[in-house]
Amino acid sequence: MDVQRGPAMAEPVLMVADAEAVAGAGLEWPRWRPMERQDLDWHAEMSWLVHPHAPPHDSPEAHLELTKSAFDGEWGEVWHEASPVALSEDGERIGTVLVVRSLERPGAPVGAYVLNCMVDPAWKRRGIAEGLMVASACVIANAAEQRIALSVDAQNEGAIALYRKLGFEELARG
Ligand SMILES: CC(C)(COP(=O)(O)OP(=O)(O)OC[C@H]1O[C@@H](n2cnc3c(N)ncnc32)[C@H](O)[C@@H]1OP(=O)(O)O)[C@@H](O)C(=O)NCCC(=O)NCCS
Repeated sequence: MDVQRGPAMAEPVLMVADAEAVAGAGLEWPRWRPMERQDLDWHAEMSWLVHPHAPPHDSPEAHLELTKSAFDGEWGEVWHEASPVALSEDGERIGTVLVVRSLERPGAPVGAYVLNCMVDPAWKRRGIAEGLMVASACVIANAAEQRIALSVDAQNEGAIALYRKLGFEELARG
């Protein structure tokens, strides 16, 4: 399983940004808490709901395994404080960003790495992903990490627009 390809990522685009620039690029989502182990099942269900269904991640079980391996640190130590879970006013979980302190893969970029960023479809286009990325970047910048990296599918125009808006630039493709 290659996280740099992630679920159904046909053509990964590696993007990087200065953590402080992302931290200043918008407003934090006002209600969030750090990711906890108890979020595993919810994270897996949301991942299945929002990502394209393509092999090998074409079942809820596959997304649960993928999430478990991420939570277990298979790709790097999960940075809980920099992995916010957005909450609605009712306390419902509505989006999240999952960050590792560094991606443990040969040739991976140095610094914090976003494994996943997703928002409940019912809550899209309300600034939640943007607000979570800003919240995460504030934690990362305060820890004196300079860079945030992530991979996104070239076809995922919405996510690429989000990351560009936050100051991410393309570093490599394919
Ligand atoms: C991509 C995703 C995280 C965006 O979440 P969101 O909360 O709806 O995004 P925001 O409301 O914070 O959007 C912030 C900005 O990003 C850009 N953007 C977000 N979604 C977009 C879309 N579908 N099309 C074009 N631009 C988009 C816009 O510039 C937007 O600002 P605006 O609304 O003022 O125009 C969400 O659509 C999602 O969960 N997608 C499925 C999972 C995924 O692909 N994750 C990313 C790769 S891991």
